[in-house]
Amino acid sequence: MADNLPLPVRVRVTASPSLALLKYWGKEKSGINIPATSSIAVTLSGLETVTEISTDFNQDGKSSAGDQIIINDEPVSDPKIELFLRYARDQYPLPSQLTIRSRNNFPTSAGLASSSSGFAALAAGLGAYIRPALSGIELSALARAGSGSACRAVFGGFTRWIRGSEYAVPVYDHTYWEDLRILLILVTRQPKSTGSRSAMNHCSQTSPVFSSWIRENHRHEEMMLAGLQNRDLEQLGAAMRQSYLFMFSTMFTADPPVIYWLPESMAVIRACEKLRRNGLNVWETMDAGPQVKLLCQESETGRIVEELEKEIGPFEYRLSRPGLPPAVETCFD
Ligand code: DP6
Repeated sequence: MADNLPLPVRVRVTASPSLALLKYWGKEKSGINIPATSSIAVTLSGLETVTEISTDFNQDGKSSAGDQIIINDEPVSDPKIELFLRYARDQYPLPSQLTIRSRNNFPTSAGLASSSSGFAALAAGLGAYIRPALSGIELSALARAGSGSACRAVFGGFTRWIRGSEYAVPVYDHTYWEDLRILLILVTRQPKSTGSRSAMNHCSQTSPVFSSWIRENHRHEEMMLAGLQNRDLEQLGAAMRQSYLFMFSTMFTADPPVIYWLPESMAVIRACEKLRRNGLNVWETMDAGPQVKLLCQESETGRIVEELEKEIGPFEYRLSRPGLPPAVETCFD
């Protein structure tokens, strides 16, 4: 973007969430959302946060007292967003009042990484008001201050965020693994009871296996990078399974434990195990919530859905693939 462009009146960003194949779970003590583990993720096509930012309050007939934040049509006061806006204004000269409208085309706060797409969209939207324009890495560092996983969602395809780093980097774009599919199984639409931030901090403070989790991350990372480089789903899937199960072991051993799994989540894990025994190449992962995400090949997707239905009955799902980076549209009058 040319640096002498005027500032926009309105910005609209469409961003997709970042699904961690290798998990970010634990923070370093210094800095904001600096990860204690490396993570590797894929940006998910089809799931979208659309965020509009505008400075034209009077046209909207709105009062001009502070920022206005509207999520899924509800005006909200969200401390995480307010803190992020304060941080962004400390770093960059930004308009002092903004109206921010955001909506998701998928359930919010239900374990589908809505905070990653939410803060990636917000950071990319604010980026349109910053001169000179931010580089990808600067944008990633800005998004990280809102939510760690958002620093990966400012890129498409496959991303890597190295432990101790302030930003993620793109590794392969969305065309790299054409036949990879992600089946997102919605076992519930209820918002989760504990947010990932507080669960992560609680586990790092109280789980006796947390230090092993951090140590093992190096090994999981090597395995996963090799799987990704070889486009080898079995190798990637085995590393992914180790990473999510070890992450959950820090939750189960926290005091008190954090239990996101529902009986329905377990049923999907079991079914997935059975499908693998029967020769299907399908691998599950979970995040801070009860939903289960499966990685598989396009050619086997139909069969996997059919076989899963036989095992667990009808279920709600979204089919995704490696997605694009955020799209930013600006309007100057
Ligand atoms: C399990 O990025 O939501 O999804 O940095 O505190 O905002 P904060 O945490 P957040 O945690 C994501 C945790 C995870 C794993 C991952 O996305 O890597």
